[in-house]
Amino acid sequence: MVSPPLHARVRRDARTYLDPIESPSVKVLVVGGGGREHALCWKISQSPLVARVYCAPGNAGTALVAENVDLDAEDVKGLRNFAVENKIDLVVVGPEAPLCLGLVDELKKVSVKCFGPSKAAAEIEGSKLYARELCRRHRIPGPQYWPFDDVHGARAFLDMREDGPIVVKASGLAAGKGVTVCKKNDEARAAAVDCLERRRFGEAGSTIVFEEFLEGQELSVMTLTDGQTIIPFEPARDHKAVFDGDKGPNTGGMGAVTPVAVPSRTMAQIENQIIFPTVHAMNRENRKYQGFLYAGLMLTAQGPRVLEYNCRLGDPETQPLLMRLTSDIVPLLLATVDGRLDEQQAPKWDPRPCVSVVACSGGYPGEFRKGVPIFGLDRVTSGPDLQVFHSGTAKKGGDVITTGGRVLAVTAMGKDVEDARARCYAALQLIEFDGIHFRKDIGMRA
Ligand SMILES: Nc1ncnc2c1ncn2[C@@H]1O[C@H](COP(=O)(O)OP(=O)(O)O)[C@@H](O)[C@H]1O
Ligand SMILES: [Mg+2]
Repeated sequence: MVSPPLHARVRRDARTYLDPIESPSVKVLVVGGGGREHALCWKISQSPLVARVYCAPGNAGTALVAENVDLDAEDVKGLRNFAVENKIDLVVVGPEAPLCLGLVDELKKVSVKCFGPSKAAAEIEGSKLYARELCRRHRIPGPQYWPFDDVHGARAFLDMREDGPIVVKASGLAAGKGVTVCKKNDEARAAAVDCLERRRFGEAGSTIVFEEFLEGQELSVMTLTDGQTIIPFEPARDHKAVFDGDKGPNTGGMGAVTPVAVPSRTMAQIENQIIFPTVHAMNRENRKYQGFLYAGLMLTAQGPRVLEYNCRLGDPETQPLLMRLTSDIVPLLLATVDGRLDEQQAPKWDPRPCVSVVACSGGYPGEFRKGVPIFGLDRVTSGPDLQVFHSGTAKKGGDVITTGGRVLAVTAMGKDVEDARARCYAALQLIEFDGIHFRKDIGMRA
């Protein structure tokens, strides 16, 4: 295989970029309504370039730093019309669903700048099978895999296979619930039937991918790229399992910590063997990737391996990451859309560690009640190094109520991780709602 010309490079040197926009004039629309979007609105609203921030649909937290717009994140037409009518200069898409629906492409048609990958590029997350095939075609290291779209084939494959650990994945978007890590073939058979026959995830599970089970430490690397230049963000680690000690079922994410100590040799391996090759691979497949590229990795004894890609920032990793980002994020976002990241100054990070602890509704990730009033938010003294980022919240009368499983993420920096943790948990002591639960061990492994 001929290797592609290496245009891309890591931007780490500092060069002052003079933006033509000098007065606060940029109107931004953030799409989404979770903790990631609250953190994005919070950070974007601090930019001296920005005149106004909207958030669609937002939550009770985004309402404090932006103007909520009553439009669903997946209402592509509605968002397009809003952006045109309100002369939005930059749309920033938080979640994967609107990206996979082609929101960026639709906005491009009406000349609205939109941060995030195109529909074709977002398939890197939207189809786990596409991501696997991309890796195979371009020799990006990942597990062995075997796709199936009929249950007979899947069964026959498992019958022939030696019994042992294997991973079953619904190929499409399944809100973080489509993956089953199995110890035995029997479990895998049940998971395959669930997807292919019972259609547990609807169309998203009409194709499944069996994957070789990989062992090692997991790491998420989020990179800003315009398809040429990459700017890796500081590494972060999330906590997926609902209970302390990584016990219990997986959730959307119970907490995160940044930075994570990664040896520079490993980071270089990740950039050279995974991030750059992926950006190039997307160019070669005519799916130029612009936006945040999130690589979910397993650090195996043989080196880093791709578990999955996401086409956006992680939630809750975004919350502590953006708190530590001291540079203005808006020029970075604009430069990504315009394909001139190479002109950007490398972002600066507060060296202090940051921890984010997610408080959830009683019963989550199973059944939970909504509309539960939240008390004590006003007792928390927030500032640049402590914030309560809202996820599933809304305003009702004078109250703030719960509207989702993950309700809010208390995020704090500290002089060390222990201090950051202590500040998070002290603030959580002040917040109350019926059924509240959160992990007590976020950041303890760091
Ligand atoms: N091939 C694999 N080997 C071992 N564990 C895996 C593998 N693929 C996924 N996992 C585990 O399952 C989790 C979820 O899988 P992932 O591919 O990240 O899907 P999603 O985030 O969409 O649920 C991963 O964080 C990891 O813990
Ligand atoms: Mg994942």
